[in-house]
Parts: sequence; structure tokens; C-alpha cells
Amino acid sequence: MKVLVTGGAGYIGSHVVRQLLLRGDDVLVLDNLVNGHREAVGVARLEVMDLSDNAGLKRLMKAFQPEAVIHFAAFIEVGESVRNPLKYYQNNTANGFSLLAACQEAGIRKFIFSSTAAVYGTPKAVPIPETASLAPINPYGFSKLFVEQALRDLAAASDFRYVALRYFNAAGADPSGEIGESHKPESHLIPLVLQAASGERKDISIFGTDYPTPDGTCVRDYVHVNDLADAHLKALDYLKDGGESRVFNCGYGHGYSVREVLDAVKRMTGKDFSVVEAPPRTGDPAELVADSRLLTEILKWKPQFDNLNAIIETVWNWELNRRY
Ligand code: UFG
Repeated sequence: MKVLVTGGAGYIGSHVVRQLLLRGDDVLVLDNLVNGHREAVGVARLEVMDLSDNAGLKRLMKAFQPEAVIHFAAFIEVGESVRNPLKYYQNNTANGFSLLAACQEAGIRKFIFSSTAAVYGTPKAVPIPETASLAPINPYGFSKLFVEQALRDLAAASDFRYVALRYFNAAGADPSGEIGESHKPESHLIPLVLQAASGERKDISIFGTDYPTPDGTCVRDYVHVNDLADAHLKALDYLKDGGESRVFNCGYGHGYSVREVLDAVKRMTGKDFSVVEAPPRTGDPAELVADSRLLTEILKWKPQFDNLNAIIETVWNWELNRRY
């Protein structure tokens, strides 16, 4: 299939691009390389362009004529979205709408959207089903939710169909060691802990030790990026086979606390490092765990890395040999 991947030089996007190429899809990556990495797209064609470039988008759609679009391009830092909301509404929401308009004009009717567990805000109960109330607690979550809403409306008004995938905590790296997570600055727990283990960082902070969880630290559903990537390929096939528009949670359905992650890294790497107990980070819900039964039942998703040690191993492999 001819697939346009926006943000394909980013963390999750690059793992999806790799799997699409491996199965023989024709892929064009669109990325402005503000946070993405040229090295991450491998042999895929790369168009360096910003989504706000309406004329460029139009030209690209005409030249490539994709059958489907997978849309990752977005800013992802919750804290930054609180400090600078318009940056998120501009890039994630307004540019998302521009992309949808370009798709509509080009007659593209299959669309996969990279959404987030942040649309749930602080959940009333876990695991969280897709039907839980949508109540983001930060502009990042709203910036994605607005695009979800536009997708719903567009699908209701035309023969356009979409799948929105709400990621829980993406983690891990491709086992080849060729691509992995590389954010500057890095804010995600697992890469930061491994950087502490490798000595690149002097310590790791635990943000909050008094949450209502078994050990007092936040619990998250860490899902390996290759399992997430596989969900995108399955979503694409689902739309190709005529599947109706749907939203799916992406997670394993069980979580680990921050302390459990730290312990697992120490065990796996055999390295000790300093741990600092710090105050809670604003906007962190105590526990986020997905109810992903729909993904398993409807998309026949069969995760391969549902194991914290396996996730950590792939990140360690990446951190020791990273190329970007
Ligand atoms: N944490 C620490 N120390 C650190 C970094 C993180 O204790 O140095 C904790 C956080 O407080 C949180 C957990 O580790 O409890 C995981 O934090 P991450 O930053 O790795 O991930 P988040 O859960 O904050 O973020 C993820 C996605 C976001 C999404 C959000 C939804 O990365 O895109 O879930 O809440 F918006």
C-alpha cells in the first residue's frame, strides 16, 4: 500500500516506517526534522516539510497519491504544553486540521491517528476502557482530543474512515539497535533510568512517593514500541478490509510502578545508581493502565514484548550503541 507517514522520523513513527518497509509497503515520510532524526527513517523516502505548508502538502499529495495516511507529527511534552499551550494547539491541532483538509481534497479516505492516554485525564478507574470519560488535564491531551473529534465528524459526514490509537506509555527500541527513542531533552522514565545506569546521568529522580499505589509511586502501562507499531499495521489492514472508524487503546493491561522500573533496570544491567525522591510532577495521574481488549479482539493484536525486562533490554541495547 502507498502510505504517507507524517512524523515518520520520530520515535514511534520510525518504528512504524521500518515495519511498513519490511512488509513491502511503499512509504513516504513527511517530517520537519525539528524533533525527528534523518537517520531514523532508514531507506524510506523523506520529504522535509512542515505540516503548516499547505501548498507543499497539496503538491506532495498530488505527486505521491497515498492510499492512506498515518499521522504522528506532533509535539509530545505535557509540561511544555502547560507552559506554552498555543504551541500545541498550533502544531498538533491546527496543523492536524490542515492535514485532514489536504487528505479530503486529495480523496484520501484511510487515516490512522496517533492519539494518547492523556485524553482521559485522571481516570475514575483502571484499567481504562475506550468508553471512559474524555477529560484531559493538560493542553497536550486537548490538542489530540480536538483532532479525534474532527476525525469523528469527518467520518460522519463522508466516506472517510479512521483509526485513532490511544497510546499508553510507549517504551523500548527496535531489537536491531538501529532505531530507538531520542528526545532532546529526554523526559521519559525508562530512557532516563538507563542513562543513569550507563553513567550518562548522575542520578534519577522519582517524581512523587506518596501516591495511592502499592509502593507510593506512579503506575504506568509500558508498551513496547514495536508492539505499538504492529497495531498501526493491523489498523491499516483493518481499514483496507473495510473496517469502520474506531478508537483503540494501546497498552498491555497491566502496569509497573516507578520503583519497579528502577529495580528492574538495576537487575538487568547489574549497575547501581543514585535515586532521589523528588516532589510529584504536576499533572501526573497515579495510575494509567489500558483496557486493550478491543485491540486484541477486533484488530487481532498479539503483542511480542509484553515483559518489562524485554522492554528494558532493548532500550539498554539502544542506549549503549545509539547513532542519534
Ligand atoms: N518519572 C519519574 N522520574 C523521571 C521521569 C518520569 O519518576 O525522571 C515518572 C513520572 O512521574 C510518571 C512515570 O515516571 O509517573 C512515567 O513518566 P514518563 O514521563 O515516562 O511518561 P508519562 O506517563 O508522563 O507520559 C506518557 C506519554 C505522554 C502522555 C502521558 C499520558 O509519554 O505522551 O503518558 O499521561 F501524554
